[in-house]
Amino acid sequence: MRKLIRGGTVVTASDTYQAEVLIEGEKVVAIGNNLEADQAEVIDAGGCYLFPGGVDPHTHLDMPFGGTITADDFESGTRAAAFGGTTSIIDFCLTNKGQSLRDAISIWHEKARGKAVIDYGFHLMIAEANDQVLEELEYVVTEEGIVSLKVFMAYKNVLQADDETLFKTLVRARQLGALVQVHAENGDVIDYLTRKALADGNTDPINHALTRPPEAEGEATGRAAALTALADSQLYVVHVSCADAVKRIAEAREKGWQVYGETCPQYLTLDVSYLEKPDFEGAKYVWSPPLREKWNQEVLWNALRSGILQTVGSDQCSFNFKGQKELGRGDFTKIPNGGPLIEDRFAVVYSEGVHAGRISLNQFVDVISTKAAKLFGMYPRKGTIAVGSDADIVIFDPGATRTLSVATHHMNVDYNPFEGMQVHGEVVTVLQRGAYVIRDKQFVGQPGLGQFIKRSRFARP
Ligand code: URP
Ligand code: ZN
Ligand code: ZN
Ligand code: ZN
Repeated sequence: MRKLIRGGTVVTASDTYQAEVLIEGEKVVAIGNNLEADQAEVIDAGGCYLFPGGVDPHTHLDMPFGGTITADDFESGTRAAAFGGTTSIIDFCLTNKGQSLRDAISIWHEKARGKAVIDYGFHLMIAEANDQVLEELEYVVTEEGIVSLKVFMAYKNVLQADDETLFKTLVRARQLGALVQVHAENGDVIDYLTRKALADGNTDPINHALTRPPEAEGEATGRAAALTALADSQLYVVHVSCADAVKRIAEAREKGWQVYGETCPQYLTLDVSYLEKPDFEGAKYVWSPPLREKWNQEVLWNALRSGILQTVGSDQCSFNFKGQKELGRGDFTKIPNGGPLIEDRFAVVYSEGVHAGRISLNQFVDVISTKAAKLFGMYPRKGTIAVGSDADIVIFDPGATRTLSVATHHMNVDYNPFEGMQVHGEVVTVLQRGAYVIRDKQFVGQPGLGQFIKRSRFARP
């Protein structure tokens, strides 16, 4: 089956040009003008941009956390992602100490199988770096195509690993060609500050932010970067929220260390005052790292523009306000951490980035799709529009405006952190490997059609 997209402007991380795109089966087979439409279905994209499908390198679907389980699973989460213009995600596979990595991975495969409507890969959490784990990692990287390993430096007594674990993981990742990711916050300091806050009777949501200061993120970021240099390895810092952490990444990169960073739409647009909303509504904005003072937002945009940060991930980790966020009434430490962000990542970054004049159209494609595909071993199959690439294409109308809201979103959750935000631009149609997932703003995809992406090893630039 052939499809010919006509009248659109192709936008990649490097180019913007008017051209037709011819798709055969799952692949782009030609880009040019006056292409032969013989027997092809012609799709009119007049006035629209053709973007490569968004690549979201940071999601938590169907994940147990904070004594409950995320509201979105692989079906509702990937459907919402597709509505938003995202065609590939990389989800975090959790592991427990003592568990074999194969077992942990097979549990995550089960969560996604038959449910995902878009393609997906997994990052693998490293809970401990004992000999068995370090040995099994060879299988994980070479056979499973799971080439990114996540170490948590926070969430003491839950997910947190120590520096020895991080260091051993970095050394092994260097040998195997994997990219190590860190949640960079100083969990020991946060644990102390949290216990102290509760002992002092400070229980409201705002204390989540007060007990996780930016210095704790900066310190952990700098420590992880230094350990990376010591191991001559490679590091990707997830969900960078503040200037303190940006500074550490910039310093590391100036020294030539292989350190990369991701921020998220929430840190680019929302600030810590949201945690002070009355009637416990601040709990809707509780995630880690916390929202920061507003001035940090410009630092993050500048870092994206200058290449200090490379990607924008969603950190999708949704919990309903009713019944889930409410678990933390009277004790902010019991509020499940995370927010519903997978759907609006693309829209928020386009509108507040490109439309507002903070980043260029090509930088938008780079941070929303291309760089993640490159860093995580999916390029050029994903992350660009090119002959031979998967036909993952978003037809986007830049002239439209709409309002983000729980009333119209597709995530399986009872609030939207961007409620009421006006955005410029709208996703009209989304193709995944040549097949419609969203057609004229209607979902026409199918659970189970999303495929697991075996990824290539990290390639040092
Ligand atoms: O609060 C957050 N970010 N929840 C998801 C887990 C994580 O730390 O990324
Ligand atoms: Zn995290
Ligand atoms: Zn996360
Ligand atoms: Zn505007």
